[in-house]
Amino acid sequence: MTNSESNFVRIIREICEEEQISLQSYSFDWIFELQKHGKVRYILGYQFGLNTASVNSICCDKAAASEIMTAHGIPNIEHRLFASPGEQKFVGKTGCWSSLIRFLEEKGTLVVKPNDGTGGDRVFKVSSAYELETAVHTIYERSGYIAASPFYDIENEYRTIMLDGDARLVYVKRRPHLTGDGVSTVAELIVRHLTEQESISTSDVTIPGRADRIPAKGEQILLGWKHNLGLGARAELLEDGPLKKDIETIVAEVARCLGVRFASIDIAETGEGLKVLEINSGVMMENFAGQDAKSREIAKSIYRDAIRLMFE
Ligand SMILES: Nc1ncnc2c1ncn2[C@@H]1O[C@H](COP(=O)(O)OP(=O)(O)O)[C@@H](O)[C@H]1O
Ligand SMILES: [Mg+2]
Repeated sequence: MTNSESNFVRIIREICEEEQISLQSYSFDWIFELQKHGKVRYILGYQFGLNTASVNSICCDKAAASEIMTAHGIPNIEHRLFASPGEQKFVGKTGCWSSLIRFLEEKGTLVVKPNDGTGGDRVFKVSSAYELETAVHTIYERSGYIAASPFYDIENEYRTIMLDGDARLVYVKRRPHLTGDGVSTVAELIVRHLTEQESISTSDVTIPGRADRIPAKGEQILLGWKHNLGLGARAELLEDGPLKKDIETIVAEVARCLGVRFASIDIAETGEGLKVLEINSGVMMENFAGQDAKSREIAKSIYRDAIRLMFE
């Protein structure tokens, strides 16, 4: 699919037409220039210009966002920054191996990822010095900095879309899973799953336990530990209730402390309670909007309000 065929691009075009905003597109629809009543505004990628440049940079920097949230008492999954040798001139050339190894020994299992990554790309779960070394080398090949966190067994991950402090959308990301039929082996279920889901590549699938085991009818087998929709997880709207209230409270705190106006905020449900996992200042609802007509309508109404705010 080209960018121009994406749900996002179609939705932005529809909104501009409906709101009498003239639209000029550049760079394969990755840049939009919007004009109304003599005012000019830009959308670049998924950035709507509602956040200041420094706030955007903090959100894109997992370790910086974590440090600030901790300082403000917002529960979050700690992300510690480690610089590659090439970048250490900016942080004092202290070396980072010994502290990384100590962090691993202290926590048992870590998750390491590019500090500015997205989409679950090069996010590794490591439990030994060898796995850590392999992951870190892979990340440093293309990124100057890694963020390391303790691994949490995340029961559910929630995505919220926040506009001016309000959680306008809260959904739970269901990890890709198989359902046993009482007859097929795990291997047979996986082959069937992969055949049906063209978008998932085999490298994203972790085979749980023995492949020749026959799961019971109705048994659910998780196919990975990451909650990225782009890797096959599905979004389900979260119903009103105490959990949603708690999430909305955290989201409002993030908005207040960081001064962020438009963002998607991911919150993980861990054994230690709800914790913010990451803040994305670019608001991407591509996979969500593509799920069904209702989801598309929700995404469109949020983008419409963001665009209206751009002109206020
Ligand atoms: N510390 C952690 N413990 C457990 N799972 C994690 C941890 N960090 C990331 N994950 C899993 O990996 C996925 C991708 O990590 P994330 O920090 O959101 O990076 P990205 O920006 O690439 O999406 C998350 O959705 C979550 O399922
Ligand atoms: Mg993520």
